[in-house]
Amino acid sequence: MQIIVVDRDGSERTIVGRAGEKLMIVLREHDYEIDAVCGGVCNCGTCHVYVDAEWFARLPKPAADEVDVLAVSAHERPTSRLSCQIVLQDAMDGLRIAIAPVED
Ligand code: FES
Repeated sequence: MQIIVVDRDGSERTIVGRAGEKLMIVLREHDYEIDAVCGGVCNCGTCHVYVDAEWFARLPKPAADEVDVLAVSAHERPTSRLSCQIVLQDAMDGLRIAIAPVED
């Protein structure tokens, strides 16, 4: 499936992901600057992305621990998600996201 990614500098690229993979892993494979310090266990917040508003409503809802991690981010927005908590599905073809700023 295709994923449209807007990087921190505003540049946009379409990358290919596979169903069953975490979005965080796919972003790192494509050399996006995603630290993923905790390795994808929803603990660090360094895999923060903004999901396009239309897509945000279509994704499975975040679990309580993801909401808690995002709540302490200085860069949280209404469409914030942790990319390690988004498992790609075929129905997500065309998903559009932006990489959130690095935490201070
Ligand atoms: S990689 Fe740490 S919260 Fe996603």
